[in-house]
Amino acid sequence: MSSTDAEGVLEVRALPDTGLRSEWDSIRVPEQQKNRLLSMAVLATTVRPRVQRSRVPLHGFILLVGAPGTGKTTLGRGLATRVAESVPSAGNWRFLQVEPHALVSAGLGGSQKKVRRLLGETVAEYAAAGPLVVLLDEVETLAADRYQISLEANPLDVLRATDAVLAGLDELAERFPGLLVVATSNFVGSVDAALLSRADLVETIAVPDRDGVKWIVCDTLAELSRTWSAIGKLPSAPGFAKVVDTAVGLDGRQLRKAVVAACAGDPQSALDPGKVSVEALEHAMRQARADTEPRK
Ligand SMILES: Nc1ncnc2c1ncn2[C@@H]1O[C@H](COP(=O)(O)OP(=O)(O)O)[C@@H](O)[C@H]1O
Ligand SMILES: [Mg+2]
Repeated sequence: MSSTDAEGVLEVRALPDTGLRSEWDSIRVPEQQKNRLLSMAVLATTVRPRVQRSRVPLHGFILLVGAPGTGKTTLGRGLATRVAESVPSAGNWRFLQVEPHALVSAGLGGSQKKVRRLLGETVAEYAAAGPLVVLLDEVETLAADRYQISLEANPLDVLRATDAVLAGLDELAERFPGLLVVATSNFVGSVDAALLSRADLVETIAVPDRDGVKWIVCDTLAELSRTWSAIGKLPSAPGFAKVVDTAVGLDGRQLRKAVVAACAGDPQSALDPGKVSVEALEHAMRQARADTEPRK
């Protein structure tokens, strides 16, 4: 893994990448959803260089929307390596993750300038060098809906940043058919409509259903059981179904964190997570549910 000092770039790495592959595998969403994502990403890669955009509208732009903690960032990172694995003939793939918060500038016109530099210079240079997947995480911070921008905190700056994102993405799409942009947003309602309309695919990532909850809890326990084997027996313990029932409604991040919280429930299990009981696990899930209730 290498990183770069360019403003707004969180990391750059070569693809395929085994770490990103395990991120993809760690996210439980319906199999069809993963298939749709991968298929559109592959299609954009294989078809875009060979057709006119005005006649076959493919922008190489995929958007993942959903509540915080549902796995969008992880899925987007994983998708990058899956595309590279699927289309090795495209060349030396690379991955670049953008950190939009770093681009939101306090100064008037500052964000716009930073966005222009990032997309027009930094990303363009990487894209010119070979096939590239860019993850534009939490894109609503940059491409906020121009019709909803309030008059608080530099509305003009946000407006200009949104314009710069749209113009920058258009120019990149035009110049680099080997570029795939995957964006995520926690609030689809706040993403600019013009950006939404450019997406080849918009996938909504939901909070896991009961089977998903069970899978995520078991997967977290399985990871711990590689070192503390006793914890791997919890899924077959009599009270485990109740743990899952209690946990339904939590998102993926909350579920994994609740397992950690159960381990930290007392000094004994903190020292040896193999000592976590099914009751402690259920308690942690109940606590997590209570924490997500709206406060009065
Ligand atoms: N559907 C899911 N399946 C498995 N793990 C999940 C799921 N959703 C979230 N997680 C876990 O929660 C954490 C946060 O995920 P993240 O990708 O940052 O979510 P988001 O970007 O939607 O806020 C990660 O550790 C991830 O593995
Ligand atoms: Mg995220």
